[in-house]
Amino acid sequence: MNAAVALEGVWHRYGSGPWVLEGLDLEVGAGEAVAVMGPSGSGKTTLLSIAGLLTEPTRGRVRLGGVPVPRSQRRRDRLRAEWFAWVFQTVNVLGHRTAEDNTALSLLARGVPRGEATRQARAALGAVGLADRAGSPVVDLSGGELQRVCIARAVAAAPKVVLADEPTGQLDHATSLRVLDALWAARRPDTALLVATHDPQVAERCDRILRLVDGRLIEEPT
Ligand SMILES: Nc1ncnc2c1ncn2[C@@H]1O[C@H](COP(=O)(O)OP(=O)(O)O)[C@@H](O)[C@H]1O
Ligand SMILES: [Mg+2]
Repeated sequence: MNAAVALEGVWHRYGSGPWVLEGLDLEVGAGEAVAVMGPSGSGKTTLLSIAGLLTEPTRGRVRLGGVPVPRSQRRRDRLRAEWFAWVFQTVNVLGHRTAEDNTALSLLARGVPRGEATRQARAALGAVGLADRAGSPVVDLSGGELQRVCIARAVAAAPKVVLADEPTGQLDHATSLRVLDALWAARRPDTALLVATHDPQVAERCDRILRLVDGRLIEEPT
């Protein structure tokens, strides 16, 4: 079967700087959870942003569902919106709006009508254990709850791939566990997850662990 997302022979550098990625290959299957580990500066965020079509690689190719991503900016924009949702290390929410409104945003952006978006947002908040906080302004939520809202927002729109960049990087141990439970509970079985992390707790839950070394990925025994 075709991988959900594949990087083939990807090289990347910023301007005339040193090479960050050097002939990197990666395949993430539908429904598969893959962790990318590596020290700060090793290129994890660069890798995710190339996979998610935010950055065009200097050389090499990205395929989605086996199909090469076209060069046309308009078509890349459409694929990016259709395929990917992000969870970042730092939460980004509209502070004066409720958890439900923030979660519904990803659905409204896809043209889902308001009533249906609200229903699906509530379901996603339920899946991350925040059903009772749906109507709370997000300023009233804790850091871990906020990250769960971000997870609900990411999965609500049923992306084919969730890209998570150090999603527990700002959280303590106990809170991280709750956030990971939420991510695993809310993710649909066919949604791929590519997660950059330093956190062994995150990596342990993934189907595969890859280490980013010298611009390429090395598979770790699990
Ligand atoms: N926008 C950018 N412009 C120039 N250099 C960058 C940019 N983004 C990242 N880099 C450099 O690329 C390398 C990899 O960075 P990054 O992908 O953020 O690694 P990681 O996420 O593993 O910390 C680092 O040396 C970083 O300084
Ligand atoms: Mg990074």
